Amino acid sequence: TIERTFSIVKPDAVERNLIGAIYQRIESAGLKIIAAKMVHLSEDKAKGFYAEHEGKPFYDDLVAFMTSGPVMVQVLEGENAIARYRELMGKTNPEEAACGTLRADYAQSMRLNSVHGSDSPVSAAREIAYFFAEDEICPR
Ligand code: CMP
Repeated sequence: TIERTFSIVKPDAVERNLIGAIYQRIESAGLKIIAAKMVHLSEDKAKGFYAEHEGKPFYDDLVAFMTSGPVMVQVLEGENAIARYRELMGKTNPEEAACGTLRADYAQSMRLNSVHGSDSPVSAAREIAYFFAEDEICPR
C-alpha cells in the first residue's frame, strides 16, 4: 500500500546543518518528499503535537527542546512509508539504533534525536493534518 507519513528534522539537526544530509537519505531510501516547510514551533503547537506524552517525565524537556529552534516538517510518501521511514530513523535511543540509521549517525541523545516519524497510520493522518493543509501537499 502507498502510505504517507509525517517527518520532522528536529532543532538539533537543523542547527548542525543536517537538513540536506537527512533529505538525501530519505530520497535515497525511495521515499518521496511531497510537502515540506521550516517552522519554529510555539509552545502551544509543540504541546499539542506531543499531547499523548503529557505527564511523562520527559515531556517538559521535550517541549522545551522542540521549541528551541526551527525544525523542518515533511510529508513522505511511498510503499509502506510509515514502517520504512521508522526503519531509516532507527530506535528512539541512539545507543540502540542500528548502524546506518539516521539516529545512529546523527542523534546526540534520547531527547536530541534529530528526527521524528509517525508510528501508525492514525498518527500519520493526525500529524500531517496538524501541520499541512491539503493544498500544501503535492503528490506526484
Ligand atoms: P519522537 O519520535 O519525536 O517522539 C517523542 C520524543 O520524546 C522522542 O522522539 C524523543 O525525542 C523524546 N523521548 C522519548 N522518550 C524519552 C526519554 N525516555 N527521555 C527523553 N526523551 C525522550
